[in-house]
Amino acid sequence: MASEAVATRVVQVVAADAAGIGTGVAVRMRAAAAVAAAADLLAAGGLVAFPTETVYGLGALPSRPATLARLFAVKGRPADNPLIMHVADTAAARRLTAGWHPLADRLAAHFWPGPLTMILPAAPGIPAAVTAGLSTVGVRVPAHPIALALLQALGEPLAAPSANRSGRPSPTTAAHVLADLAGLVDLIIDGGPTPVGVESTVLDLSTPAPVLLRPGAVTLEQLCQFIPGLSAAATPSPAVGYRHYRPAASLVLVLGEDTVVVHNMLKELAAAARADGKRPGLLLAAEFGDDWPEPRVVWGSLANPDTLAAGLYVGLRQLDEAGVDLILTHGVEPIGIGLAVQNRLLQAAERVYRPRFSKRNDGAGSAAARVPHRRKGGSMG
Ligand code: TXA
Ligand code: MG
Repeated sequence: MASEAVATRVVQVVAADAAGIGTGVAVRMRAAAAVAAAADLLAAGGLVAFPTETVYGLGALPSRPATLARLFAVKGRPADNPLIMHVADTAAARRLTAGWHPLADRLAAHFWPGPLTMILPAAPGIPAAVTAGLSTVGVRVPAHPIALALLQALGEPLAAPSANRSGRPSPTTAAHVLADLAGLVDLIIDGGPTPVGVESTVLDLSTPAPVLLRPGAVTLEQLCQFIPGLSAAATPSPAVGYRHYRPAASLVLVLGEDTVVVHNMLKELAAAARADGKRPGLLLAAEFGDDWPEPRVVWGSLANPDTLAAGLYVGLRQLDEAGVDLILTHGVEPIGIGLAVQNRLLQAAERVYRPRFSKRNDGAGSAAARVPHRRKGGSMG
């Protein structure tokens, strides 16, 4: 469905950590005024992007079918991918569900407000556009003062996916939202960069045994304290098969525990790309040093995986803006929030290399031992 262009207003929240987005169209407001303006627009059927602690969300009132349709259209989101309902507190989440899980109470008490989405049997009356026709609903209480103030001002749940074009990396700044959705949404509340940087953990509590559908900032290790034996095994989720988190340049991912082997392979791949007439860019942790001739973004430190989560989508978008043809990067240790980072990298990657351990001093790196793996295609999601 085509969407008519609209004037996208940006309000920069004063006193938040906002660097400014340099468009010249931003209006500065206090948080309360920005939230009031957003709530009015939403009530009138508008689409509003707002910060959460994870990434920016694109909110629509579920009671507005035309707005929901517009939300799917502007994102280019397939109709079979359900939306998360954002609520101000646990009581509001509970009202959206039929059959509140006993575990949900304990998890909510421990992790909400916070980056955990729980999938539960849906209460009657939730629009099929939100649930994608499933019998379940995803609910979460975000831990961001602007998101919470907006939900309180509305007094009703807000359906909100990430505020990016489907398939693209999620937005962690208002500028990212503007890059994807200028002229398509009514308002963006610029509350500065989102602190976590990857999307919420999605936990399915609607099945007899809980299942982790999407790793996030609430870690598998934390959840295992409540749900012993919970596994992160790949599980069919509604949008499985769609591509996600992809930059415009193709992403090449090198996995391996030995950073010397990974470093050597990245060097080789960069040289091979240049020899092929391509312009490679590198997304590297600080530990990989600065001896790289190519455009390079340092996206965090392996020693502090929170920085990798916070820097991932920013880095991918920066390299796209630098106009590189391909982005070379490396995996991270899949523990803690690293599991979420690795999950996004694997989904974003066009090609994955897993160089086998080879002698460090063989001089030739791991070229002979590498195992390239080409990703199968899929439609954009
Ligand atoms: O951190 C976040 O979760 C952000 C912020 C804005 O809250 N939102 C976000 O929404 O990432 P979205 O739509 O980009 O991703 C929601 C994920 C999708 O993978 C969707 O399939 C899954 O949650 N999901 C939503 N409802 C579901 C349901 N009823 N059953 C299974 N999965 C569901
Ligand atoms: Mg998304």
